[in-house]
Amino acid sequence: MAQQGNFKSPARMGGLGDGASVSSSGPVSAGKPREDGLKGVNFERRSFLGKVVGGVGAAVAVSTLYPVVKYIIPPVKEVKEVNEMVVGKASEVPENTGKIYPFNKDKVIVVNDNGTLTACSAVCTHLGCLVRWEDKDNLLYCPCHGAKYKQTGEIISGPQPLPLAVYSARVEGDDLIVSKA
Ligand code: FES
Repeated sequence: MAQQGNFKSPARMGGLGDGASVSSSGPVSAGKPREDGLKGVNFERRSFLGKVVGGVGAAVAVSTLYPVVKYIIPPVKEVKEVNEMVVGKASEVPENTGKIYPFNKDKVIVVNDNGTLTACSAVCTHLGCLVRWEDKDNLLYCPCHGAKYKQTGEIISGPQPLPLAVYSARVEGDDLIVSKA
């Protein structure tokens, strides 16, 4: 069978000759100085390109990370403080009922007691539950721990340390308007 490939038979190896002689002594050629080997390399262009690549990389990193960071840390919604605002329609609070509306950072309960409108904070001063209007007892009641307040926010009984903050409510046309007291 004929030999294939790169098999190196002794006969072929002999035909290759001795090859380059290896000297075990004597000076080793120093080759070209380093400066000569780097001739033709434009270092200014290289550093400029490095800066460009770095800048592009930074821009890509920022444009990738920015939406991620914005998603993880959503913006704080600024609630603009107002002295008064239309919170809804007058018809939303019929006689002998109460309804809670957001007002600035607070929640306000508007009570219509036989046609007399009052408004005070709906956030119980005990632990922050929302109060509700109990028409049969004619008072504001907190279902969490039983705090009772007058329609005007003063304390009747319960564990709450403070009265409810007072607001005022009025009707203009169809609009129900709440304002700071
Ligand atoms: S939170 Fe209202 S009584 Fe406790």
